[in-house]
Amino acid sequence: MRREFAATLARVTAGRGVEKEDVVMLLTAQPGEEEEALYRQADAFRSRYVGEEVHLRGVIEFSNHCRRRCRYCGLRADNNRLDRYRMTPEEILASARRGVELGYKTIVLQSGEDPWYTADILAETVAAIKELGVAVTLCVGERPREDYELWRRAGADRYLLKHETANPKLYARLHPDMSWEKRLACLRWLKELGYQVGSGNMVGLPGQTLEDLAADILLLRELEVEMAGIGPFIPHPNTPLGDHPAGSLDLTYRVLAVTRLVVPWAHLPATTAVGTLSPNGRQMALRRGANVVMPNLTPGKYRPNYQIYPGKICINEEPDDCRHCLEGMIRSLGRVVARHPGHGLRRSPPTKNWKPRIRVEVSKLLQS
Ligand code: 5AD
Ligand code: FES
Repeated sequence: MRREFAATLARVTAGRGVEKEDVVMLLTAQPGEEEEALYRQADAFRSRYVGEEVHLRGVIEFSNHCRRRCRYCGLRADNNRLDRYRMTPEEILASARRGVELGYKTIVLQSGEDPWYTADILAETVAAIKELGVAVTLCVGERPREDYELWRRAGADRYLLKHETANPKLYARLHPDMSWEKRLACLRWLKELGYQVGSGNMVGLPGQTLEDLAADILLLRELEVEMAGIGPFIPHPNTPLGDHPAGSLDLTYRVLAVTRLVVPWAHLPATTAVGTLSPNGRQMALRRGANVVMPNLTPGKYRPNYQIYPGKICINEEPDDCRHCLEGMIRSLGRVVARHPGHGLRRSPPTKNWKPRIRVEVSKLLQS
């Protein structure tokens, strides 16, 4: 093991400061001793901060219409080879009921950015699901602050809005007609409104560097996110990035593990994208820092059309199949399925003198 790697790992796990170059150093963990040491520490932090419980968040992908043109995503508006669907509020509610019967304590409503669902329609849907006694997470992209406010009043507990990449230039290249500043403004509103906020990023985007990934991890810490979804980029043939190679699974695990060390209290899912690149990807992620799985609750007939990237797992399954599959997976790892909603656990970080390089820029944006 390189001496510098060992020293950095020891310093970070002891809570003696995390600088950007420390994060980069940890991300360069070499296969063998270094990766093993990193994963051992990530698993220990996971156990210490968020425990042995694995939270199941049932996801309803209720519309694949999207007004955006993100260059990596199969749902982009320009992809006219996709059958588009919208679930009615009644169908969404029926899926949520199934989720409650399956024991899920959180229902996630996810869609492309689809203005067909007005703020009022979604508010009523949220309120109806809250009647079932579960936590509700929304993941419907950028909307006016008033919409976020209405949904919060309707009872929504959490909001997922991935920052996708903390490099503003790369962000601009990937997202035509969108801005990184706007993204951060939305995250700021959501926090102000009292949501438990989740963000996250992709790994292996074209042109992305280890410094960019370190900035992703430090941004998650800066934002004090309650959740962070980290997954590999997977090229979709009907997108402009279809010819680029997929992100590395090993690098994704390293980003996940380092995130657990730097944002120890966060809920970190073993993402579907990790499960798509490797049959035991989610198990590996759960042993390297993750403590959440997001089973698919979407009715089988719609699943094949929520094709963010190709090869997505669980396309031929129904909600009950995923429930049973995950129970087995979690038990086989010696972990337990949580029986409560698993709200945010934000606690003071293990270090008091941590000063990220990006603090100035981000806090300026957060105040503007
Ligand atoms: N590969 C991997 N992840 C993707 N996402 C979108 N497109 C891709 C892709 N091609 C992720 C983004 C988005 C989430 C819904 O899915 O992070 O926020
Ligand atoms: Fe869907 Fe395993 S989680 S089949």
